[in-house]
Amino acid sequence: MWRNISKVVQLQKAKFATSAVPAPQTKPEILYTGLFINNEWVKSSDNKTFVTENPTTGEPIAEVQQAGKADVDRAVQAAKDAFKLGSPWRRMDPSERGRLLYRLADLIERDRNYIASLETLDNGKPFLAAHYGDVAGTIKNLRYYAGWADKNHGKVLPIDGKYMAYTRHEPVGVCGQIIPWNFPLLMASWKLGPALATGNTVVLKPAEQTPLTALYVAQLTKEAGFPEGVVNVLPGYGDAGAALVDHPHVDKIAFTGSTEVGKLIQRNAAGTVKRITLELGGKSPNIIFGDVDLEYAVEQSHMALFYNMGQCCCAGSRTFVEDKIYDKFVEMSAARAQRRKLGDPFKPDTEQGPQIDGEQQGKILSLIESGKRQGATLVTGGNKVGDRGYFVEPTVFADVKDDMDIAKTEIFGPVQQIIKFSNVEELIERANNSEYGLAAAVFTKDLDRANYMIQGLRAGTVWVNDYNVFGNQVPFGGFKQSGIGRENGPYGLNNYTEVKAVITKVTDKNS
Ligand SMILES: NC(=O)c1ccc[n+]([C@@H]2O[C@H](COP(=O)([O-])OP(=O)(O)OC[C@H]3O[C@@H](n4cnc5c(N)ncnc54)[C@H](O)[C@@H]3O)[C@@H](O)[C@H]2O)c1
Repeated sequence: MWRNISKVVQLQKAKFATSAVPAPQTKPEILYTGLFINNEWVKSSDNKTFVTENPTTGEPIAEVQQAGKADVDRAVQAAKDAFKLGSPWRRMDPSERGRLLYRLADLIERDRNYIASLETLDNGKPFLAAHYGDVAGTIKNLRYYAGWADKNHGKVLPIDGKYMAYTRHEPVGVCGQIIPWNFPLLMASWKLGPALATGNTVVLKPAEQTPLTALYVAQLTKEAGFPEGVVNVLPGYGDAGAALVDHPHVDKIAFTGSTEVGKLIQRNAAGTVKRITLELGGKSPNIIFGDVDLEYAVEQSHMALFYNMGQCCCAGSRTFVEDKIYDKFVEMSAARAQRRKLGDPFKPDTEQGPQIDGEQQGKILSLIESGKRQGATLVTGGNKVGDRGYFVEPTVFADVKDDMDIAKTEIFGPVQQIIKFSNVEELIERANNSEYGLAAAVFTKDLDRANYMIQGLRAGTVWVNDYNVFGNQVPFGGFKQSGIGRENGPYGLNNYTEVKAVITKVTDKNS
């Protein structure tokens, strides 16, 4: 899906220039800023609003209604009503649910240029990446799960005695879905696709930094024909998310975001024994052996870290490099970072836009300071750029040691840590020496060594000779403190279904 986005973007530049791809709408004017409940746009109960800003300039884009606890109650009631036995949604054929999801994907495809523009405005990611990564990935994800709507079913079971037994895969019910700001649209689709395919109803809360594309999609769900109350979208802050977690009528929480908030959710969900899935942070090892094509490995490792301004939960943020190529690798990585084009994300040749906000920019800069203080070598970058917006220079550290803060903390910014290794046995232990376990990668031409590493690395995804390769068919999620459960693929359906065993007495039974 995001496979080698740099190459995809390179290929698309020509089209962009010849306007085969429409130019972005740098000032998108259709903005939905209300709470979306029961297929209607409404104001927040206490008239609270918040401002979503453009991270490229720091200027406000729009004032958005801010959901509070009373609004969560309203939206959950709408979702609960839509889930009542005999409701249009509960009576709908699964194939028809699939048709609605296909229709939603078609509408997003119709408006893809507009939606990509909106994402770039609100999030700061380069327009071509939004267009060919986020929006294209969203359309594919919804179509993937649309196909599943009438194919996820139970089994007939060979129970002993005069009984007939079978399982039903039933929807869990009302799902609270809380998403982050780094892939606002794509994360909304990863949540909506499987939930709706399996017949649940949803209250989705986008991140406060980036509410606009989820709200636009809310309007498209109405246009697609989803019955009222099936999809509800509540822009707001953490308190609205917490109210969803606490709500006795929310049956399941799906969360993507920080490990810190994930832990809070796990604790608070215990009060109502809610089903939870958590997709949290990472500090993923990207391991480069000395036998690789150096240029290729440097480019892949660069993209593994710098893609999306470093704001990826699975970023390859611990680049382990074998000692015999270490110095050359560092030199080439620094040169690549220096070539990285930073600037206005609406320009087609921009590779790196701003960080999401001043808070993240400050956090990144202070971690860079800690790296310098603790003795890592700052090879390039290290500063903020300009006084407008939240830009940070592409930064490369060498001589990074495993116990430095920059090697342990999720920086979520454009800062690459290059760490030396010589001993393979020790390497697996070092790579696994993290509270996280989201992703890992190995670059080598030696198949036996790759297989050995695959088995030893404790991570939800292991890439071999590539990085950031995603597929809607392939599960994604974390070992250890990187989360609970998997999204995508058939595995992603399990989170949204309850298995009911049905046992019926029969008067006679023959084989
Ligand atoms: N794994 C990922 O994809 C991912 C994505 C974004 C951020 N992060 C990590 O999180 C850090 C901070 O980013 P962030 O502030 O956006 O993440 P966050 O976890 O604070 O926010 C993610 C979502 O959770 C909501 N939320 C906040 N507090 C909540 C609570 N108590 N209960 C329920 N929901 C709550 C937020 O409003 C947002 O919608 C980043 O630096 C990075 O380390 C990870």
